[in-house]
Amino acid sequence: MYGRLLMAKIIGIVQKKGGAGKTTISVHLATQLKEVYPKLRIFVADADTGQNSATKWLKRGALETGVEVCTVADDGVGKNLKQELDKLQADLIILDLPPFLDSVSLRAALYSNLILVPVGPTPLDIEAAEGAISVCREAMDLDKKKSFLIVPNRVQQSTASGRELRSVLEEWGPVSKATLGHRVAYSDSATVGVGINKYAPGSVAHQEIELLAQEVAEILGLSK
Ligand SMILES: Nc1ncnc2c1ncn2[C@@H]1O[C@H](COP(=O)(O)OP(=O)(O)OP(=O)(O)O)[C@@H](O)[C@H]1O
Ligand SMILES: [Mg+2]
Repeated sequence: MYGRLLMAKIIGIVQKKGGAGKTTISVHLATQLKEVYPKLRIFVADADTGQNSATKWLKRGALETGVEVCTVADDGVGKNLKQELDKLQADLIILDLPPFLDSVSLRAALYSNLILVPVGPTPLDIEAAEGAISVCREAMDLDKKKSFLIVPNRVQQSTASGRELRSVLEEWGPVSKATLGHRVAYSDSATVGVGINKYAPGSVAHQEIELLAQEVAEILGLSK
């Protein structure tokens, strides 16, 4: 497969809070990166075997997006996760995790080059992020080359909590340049099985994901 990097770059999307946006970000980021880096073999590895949301989403439109999807860690603990990821022969893997900081998420954090932590704007969302951020810090203590980014999600700039979210999160760790708004296009694209780049090209939602994808690509050093 031409254009393959020596080792797959891995992005883990970690958050114990259900509904924080792990799957949404996994799919939109993967499809956007595939558009910009068409030669890369990009997988969404679905480790949320209880829900399989990313798999269901992408299987509706896998041919259109060019992103491949597979299930991993279906033993529930991720004992063979590293081998499963290696076997994919991917250039880039986005690992969508379940809403627990259990063995699968901890292993994923260890194997990821970049960990993304989506966080919503309510106090409950912010409090729930603490555990995921601690996991990121511990993983980084073990491997200084690893990075993590907190990604503000479902933000409504019309509310005070939305406007203040970024400054609150910056006290916890590095925050992505992109803030993802609360936009129906992010959820509606799941019904068609594509990412925002195909569902609403040029929209504000697409611009947000473009910005996130650019930052991620820079951190990982992706090349065309
Ligand atoms: N920025 C957003 N704007 C609008 N809707 C969003 C946004 N982010 C997520 N959603 C919606 O919120 C719901 C939960 O999002 P998602 O499934 O991505 O979260 P999750 O962290 O993967 O949840 P789980 O922990 O259950 O796997 C979905 O219906 C999704 O479409
Ligand atoms: Mg999910």
